[in-house]
Amino acid sequence: MDRNNIWILGATGFIGRALTQQLAQNKANRVVLFGHKTLPGAAFEPHIYLQGGFSNITKETYQRYPPAHIFHLARFAAPLPFLRFISSKFGKKSNLQLIDFLRNENSTTRLHYVSGSLMYGATTSGSHNETAALNPVGFAKAYVAAELPFMQARKQDLSVSFYRPGWILGPDSWFKTFFWRPFCKTGKVPYYGDGSQLMSLVSLHDCAAIIARGAEHLPLNEDLNVFAKPPITQKEFSEKVAQSLGCESYSVDLEQMKKLGIDRHAIEALTTSIPLSSKHGDFYNSFRPEYKSVEELIGNVCVQLQKQNEVFLSGA
Ligand SMILES: NC(=O)c1ccc[n+]([C@@H]2O[C@H](COP(=O)([O-])OP(=O)(O)OC[C@H]3O[C@@H](n4cnc5c(N)ncnc54)[C@H](OP(=O)(O)O)[C@@H]3O)[C@@H](O)[C@H]2O)c1
Repeated sequence: MDRNNIWILGATGFIGRALTQQLAQNKANRVVLFGHKTLPGAAFEPHIYLQGGFSNITKETYQRYPPAHIFHLARFAAPLPFLRFISSKFGKKSNLQLIDFLRNENSTTRLHYVSGSLMYGATTSGSHNETAALNPVGFAKAYVAAELPFMQARKQDLSVSFYRPGWILGPDSWFKTFFWRPFCKTGKVPYYGDGSQLMSLVSLHDCAAIIARGAEHLPLNEDLNVFAKPPITQKEFSEKVAQSLGCESYSVDLEQMKKLGIDRHAIEALTTSIPLSSKHGDFYNSFRPEYKSVEELIGNVCVQLQKQNEVFLSGA
């Protein structure tokens, strides 16, 4: 049987690993994974895995595994705002090279670029659907540079869709850094600023499932907001986490955020209200989320993190 070659750039990342599992479930797919520095681990063993980032995007790889779809989740991240602007320039350069490469191959590949909802910026009323104008805040102020070449390329000749997830809840990433670790340290769960900012949550599994399904079902060049729950305020979110852990929640104001060493991009990301909606009503009407309620989702993620702590403490 001829299989569809599916490339995943940034496969070792938080979303990349979940998307790999999701796409590999379809036996018609052959997944070709592009890692960078992080080692892949046993979960990648059944798949074709190429370490070393974009250096593996060669004529030879292309001819051997011509991709029907490329999922791009390679974020050239950096720990501080000024470094993010620099690393994003490298990201932009690599993305321009990828675009040139696809053009030289006369490729009809569909490219799926996993971006974020921070690209929309704050709303003062209503919610952002896929037609909203972009006004990047937080990390997106730096990372937008890497995305621009694909926006241009779509206006010309390439097929590109942008996916904009909200707050992806899993046992890592922002939840671990800004909610779980402070809880481990203080015994309480924080919320940032006054807590009125709205969050559109999605489980890590659902995020991957929605992206995979979007790539299969949406028309060419359509974008997709990725969320699975109606927006809730960050204070409500923090209280639900606290309830699940049997503790209280507490507010962290701007001065305290700065004292904690949270940089200006992260502060903006934590305190901006970005509720999401979608113009793809039929797509979402037929999607069944993994968890019935936010409480169930939060409870499950906390259990996974508690298990990680136990493994860490037992030295296993
Ligand atoms: N995490 C979230 O909650 C969230 C929410 C909304 C949107 N998003 C967006 O989703 C995308 C993926 O996010 P993520 O959380 O999965 O990120 P992540 O965990 O940081 O993963 C990024 C991936 O990119 C790879 N990478 C980094 N530098 C690279 C380079 N120079 N060349 C090639 N590959 C490179 C990393 O490999 P190494 O680790 O080996 O360097 C890793 O596999 C990003 O655009 C992000 O903004 C994330």
